[in-house]
Amino acid sequence: MKKLLFVFGTRPEAIKMAPLIAECKRREAFETVVCVTGQHRQMLDPVLEAFGIVPDHDLNIMKDRQDLFDITTAVLEGVRRVCSLEKPDLVLVHGDTSTTFGAALAAFYMQILVGHVEAGLRTYDMENPYPEEFNRSAVGMISTYNFAPTPLAAENLLREGKRPDRVFVTGNTVVDAMARTVKKDYTHPELEWAKGSKLIFITAHRRENLGEPMRHMFRAIRRVLEEHPDCRAVYPIHMNPEVREAAAAELEGCESIHIIEPLGVVDCHNFESRAYLCLTDSGGIQEECSAFGVPVLVMRRVTERPEGIEAGTLKLVGVSEDSIYTAFKELLEDPMEYKEMSSACNPYGDGHAAERIADILEGKEYKAWKPDQR
Ligand code: UD1
Ligand code: UDP
Repeated sequence: MKKLLFVFGTRPEAIKMAPLIAECKRREAFETVVCVTGQHRQMLDPVLEAFGIVPDHDLNIMKDRQDLFDITTAVLEGVRRVCSLEKPDLVLVHGDTSTTFGAALAAFYMQILVGHVEAGLRTYDMENPYPEEFNRSAVGMISTYNFAPTPLAAENLLREGKRPDRVFVTGNTVVDAMARTVKKDYTHPELEWAKGSKLIFITAHRRENLGEPMRHMFRAIRRVLEEHPDCRAVYPIHMNPEVREAAAAELEGCESIHIIEPLGVVDCHNFESRAYLCLTDSGGIQEECSAFGVPVLVMRRVTERPEGIEAGTLKLVGVSEDSIYTAFKELLEDPMEYKEMSSACNPYGDGHAAERIADILEGKEYKAWKPDQR
């Protein structure tokens, strides 16, 4: 029996690891151990509850206004302790957070194999997103199993010299998670408030956007909302105090926007699926909204998820007030553009990524996922 140690610590990692943990727990071939770092505390715990995950280890590292040293050193030391105790055959990490990097590095130092879920996403710009481009590239150097969500992500890894027999195209596990969250009869008081209006869904949190870029985003959004009384915006705000300070400074008193506490994952997916359009700098929300056919204005300089841009659901609009204002206004006022952006597409997965990954880990035959495959 193979002993798998899952390590994750933030909200998106938990959402995307949940389907794989469930799949591995179901299989007799594995002993499955879960370690959360607690890099996020308030935003992680509701996801664990929603998916019924009870961690075997909780490093509980989060500190208010933590910096990259705080997270990385605490994860490195903590995962070292857990690996010494558990002696896993394989450590599985997800994506590109500091938890991902620290956990993979700890496994590497202990000469334990690393499996990287959501491998191969790249912008080839070390500062955007920061520090995620470094984190995922560094994990890519030491991982044995590389589970690329899309053919493009796999191509990136092969171009970087990864052995073809160590790169697998599986689809993104976020699509597997969405199968468990979206409900036809879902309601929420905020959706009632927005009923009869165009629901605009907003999130923002990236480190490289903190400060001036984030203020630009909020100013642009406010200007457009004030010119379009047929819109109502819901903004579940990130716990980061720097994000909250910028939002308070720029959005206070704007009546058509409701800033609310972070949504649970079930709520969040149901809000997204009912939105008219979304403005975000998030990674995961780009994938989810593409699957829902909800147009996304991506408030970033670059994206590692160009599949959605190619398919038409995503538009990269930069981080300046002018570029965001213009793109947001155009999308509201040009029905043709809206129509073109709002057809659902499936470039990120088919809902069977977890099964494929578990098959590969079991040494079973696997068939690479192709985007046109339903
Ligand atoms: C982290 C990841 C980022 C990911 C994001 C998902 C790194 C470097 N960044 O960014 O890749 O996209 O998570 O949301 O790993 N806080 C709380 N409670 C929480 C969570 C955060 O109070 O539950 C506050 C703390 O003050 C913390 C701050 O938010 O210091 C920032 O959290 P942190 O994990 O350092 O970075 P994120 O911006 O969340
Ligand atoms: N999400 C959530 N509640 C919220 C905002 C986001 O559950 O209030 C979910 C969202 O559906 C997606 C994930 O969190 O699955 C994205 O997380 P985030 O934007 O924080 O991180 P990123 O994907 O950019 O790393």
